[in-house]
Amino acid sequence: MHHVLVTGGAGFIGSNFVRYFLQAHPDYHVVVYDKLTYAGRLENLQDVAEAFAGRYAFVRGDICDIPLVEQTIAHYSVDTIVNFAAETHVDRSLMAPGSFIQTDVYGTFVLLEAARKAGLERYHQISTDEVYGQVLDGRSVETDHLEPRSPYAASKAAGDLMVLAYRESWGMPVTITRGSNNIGPYQYPEKVVPLFATNAIDDQPLPVYGDGHQMRDYQHVLDHCTGIDTVLHKGELGEIYNVGTGSELTNIEMTQIVLRTLGKPESLIKHVEDRPGHDRRYALDVSKLHALGWDNVYNCAQAVEETTRWYADNAWWWRPIKSGELYKDYYAQQYARRLEQA
Ligand code: NAD
Ligand code: DAU
Repeated sequence: MHHVLVTGGAGFIGSNFVRYFLQAHPDYHVVVYDKLTYAGRLENLQDVAEAFAGRYAFVRGDICDIPLVEQTIAHYSVDTIVNFAAETHVDRSLMAPGSFIQTDVYGTFVLLEAARKAGLERYHQISTDEVYGQVLDGRSVETDHLEPRSPYAASKAAGDLMVLAYRESWGMPVTITRGSNNIGPYQYPEKVVPLFATNAIDDQPLPVYGDGHQMRDYQHVLDHCTGIDTVLHKGELGEIYNVGTGSELTNIEMTQIVLRTLGKPESLIKHVEDRPGHDRRYALDVSKLHALGWDNVYNCAQAVEETTRWYADNAWWWRPIKSGELYKDYYAQQYARRLEQA
């Protein structure tokens, strides 16, 4: 039996990964370690806790809390860490970057140090295509220089560099995956696809930043999960692997798919003031992961359609979030002035 500590496992990708991983690997025990910030929700794992009761445990904790991290590793005989824990929303990193530095940089260091001291078999870091910066032409390969442009992307890049430093300095058994934009079930409705799907369901405006011709590789979260699994089992230690579909949609194309899927009019689209420093395009070369035998199941358009349908069918999950004061405050701060001026 392997014992895997999944940090940030109550968030969007982490919870999808835990569900997938426990189903795929009957010989694994998973401990989710999560601070439960606004983005971490136990509802995301409710079915997992019931279906895999004997192979699943949950610990509420901060990855910056050294004693609790060390105690959890010892108590559950952890041999592997897969680190999803992070502050993840670019717009929030422009409002308040401090928590991004704390969790995405210092928190990564705490986990690496704990993994080194305990002599774990593997430390896997979940990273992002944003560390490469915007790519106007061509595709990013894993050896490219890092040119992050937002506080979020810079803190993720710093996390990656710390992981690689632990490899160089102590030969730690690390791997890194850099994923493109994930979409799918249980994504907090601050990210664009769940935000637009849920606004459209309620006939509310869809605030498209700038001209909407920015390009993103919208991949289904389940493809990202199988990509991470492939790297955990077949990846080479010390290596980085990009994970994405290898194709892109413009934000306007993505928005049109959301609206078409719901049968809603394009008049809901509102072009609003752009995000400062908005990266125009991300694009990954995913041939290194393909060489391990992995392939994606969904293309970008299918991922957007499937995700939109999930939000249409699962209002029980997102309505309590969107009607809460925390969400309403954030929405007003980010969008009220933009929508008024549109
Ligand atoms: P999310 O915001 O939905 O979830 C993040 C989780 O981390 C939450 O459960 C939160 O409670 C937890 N967390 C935050 N700070 C913590 C701390 N200090 N200690 C313990 N737990 C903490 O994020 P997500 O979209 O699921 O992203 C997961 C990971 O994947 C992140 O590392 C992110 O950078 C990376 N990533 C995300 C995407 C994407 O499109 N969403 C793409 C590529 C990579
Ligand atoms: O590329 C991977 C990254 O994808 C992850 O590392 C991040 O954690 C994740 O948040 C995501 O970052 P983006 O900034 O690309 O995602 P977001 O959903 O915020 O925005 C996607 C695109 O949509 C981007 O071009 C900005 C635009 N957008 C976003 C919002 C929230 C809008 O036009 N309007 C909006 O209201």
